[in-house]
Amino acid sequence: MKKQIKNNVSWVGYVDWELEKFHGEDYSTFNGSSQNSYLIREEKNVLIDTVWAPHKFEFIENLKKEIDLNDIDYVVINHGEVDHSGALPALMKEIPDVPIYCSALAVKSLEGQYGKHGWNFNVVKTGDRLDIGHGKELIFIEMKMLHWPDSMATYMTKDNILFSNDAFGQHFAVEELYNDKADQCLLMNEAMKYYTNILNPFSVLVLKKIDEILEMGLPIDIIAPSHGVVWREKPLQIVEKYKEWADAYQENQITVVYDTMWESTLKIAHAISKEISKQSPDTVVKVFNIGKADKSDVMTEVFKSKAIVVGSPTVGNNVLSNVSGWLSYLKSLKFKNKKAAAFGSYGWSGESVKIIQEKLKEAGFEVIEDNVKCLWSPDKEDFDKIPKLVENLLA
Ligand code: FEO
Repeated sequence: MKKQIKNNVSWVGYVDWELEKFHGEDYSTFNGSSQNSYLIREEKNVLIDTVWAPHKFEFIENLKKEIDLNDIDYVVINHGEVDHSGALPALMKEIPDVPIYCSALAVKSLEGQYGKHGWNFNVVKTGDRLDIGHGKELIFIEMKMLHWPDSMATYMTKDNILFSNDAFGQHFAVEELYNDKADQCLLMNEAMKYYTNILNPFSVLVLKKIDEILEMGLPIDIIAPSHGVVWREKPLQIVEKYKEWADAYQENQITVVYDTMWESTLKIAHAISKEISKQSPDTVVKVFNIGKADKSDVMTEVFKSKAIVVGSPTVGNNVLSNVSGWLSYLKSLKFKNKKAAAFGSYGWSGESVKIIQEKLKEAGFEVIEDNVKCLWSPDKEDFDKIPKLVENLLA
C-alpha cells in the first residue's frame, strides 16, 4: 500500500512482519523489518530501491496500482544487497530499457549477483545531479563502506529528503511508518542494535560521511532509510545519535558473557557480576549465557558497555563452541575503547582463559591480566581473585 511521504513522494515498500533473522542466522529481527522503496512522481517518475526477492511479485503488483510501469523514467539503486535489489530483475523484465542510476561498484554487485542483462546503467558519483522536473533534482552521495563498497544515498532538492539507504535504518516493522508514530523505546533500541551489528565496524567512516553531508549544506527535512521508520520529526536526531555512537560509544555498563558445562564457570560469572555491583552500585551489570542468549542482542549490550568479562570452561584444549563463535562475531564488529577480562574452569589442560584473552585482544579490547582460572569447582582462592579483577576493570 502506498503511503505519502511528502508532496509527490510516496513509500511503496514491504513491511516484513515475519522476518526473524537477517544476514543468514546472525542478526535476530524480533520486531520484523521492512524494505523501503520510494516512488517520486514529478515531471520524471523515479523509483528508489526495490525489495527482497521473496516479496517481488507483491511489490510489482502494488507498484502497478500506483503507476504504469512504462511511465517510470528512472530507477535509482542505492545499494546492491539483495534486500534492496532482489526485485530488480523481475522489474527490469517489465521495463528493460529504463535507466538505472547507481554507483560504479553497484554495477559490479548487481551483475555479479544477477548476471549481465544489458541493463541501461548510468554510473553516478558524489555530487552528480539528475533533473526530475518541477525545478527538483536528485543529488547522489556515495556512501562507500556504509556498509558495502557500492552503498549510496540520494538527496531530493526542494522537498529536502535524504534517501539514506541502510544508514539510519532499523530492522523494525512499523506499519505507521513515521518515527513520531512508532514506539519510541523499540525504535531507539532497534536503531542501536542496527548500528552495532551493521555499522559499528565502519564508525570512522560514519563520522567522516556525516561531516561531509553536513558540509554540503543540504537542508534535510526528512531522512528516508531503506529499513524501518521514516524520520520526519526532528530527523537530525538520528544523525546526532550516529555521531555519538560512532565516537567509541560506551555507557556505565559491564557485560558478563559465558558458557558453562557443569556450572563452575557459571558460579564465577555470577560472583563477578555481584562484585561489580558491590564495588560500583551505579554500574549496570548484565549477564548472558551465550549458549542460550541471542548473540546479536548481546552485541548491543557489548556496544553499551565500558568493559566485558568473558568466560568458558576448557574443553578439547579449547573453549565451548558458543563462546568461540561469539568471539569471532565480536572481532568482526571492531569495538573500540572497551576493557575486558577472562575467566574459566578446567579439569586438566586449562587453556580456555588464555584463548579468551588472546581472542579479546585480537578483537581490539584492552585486556587486563587479572583472571579467574579455577580447577574443578571454584573455591575461596578463586573467589578471592575477583575483587581485584573487578577493581582493575573499573579503573
Ligand atoms: Fe539493507 Fe545492506 O542491505
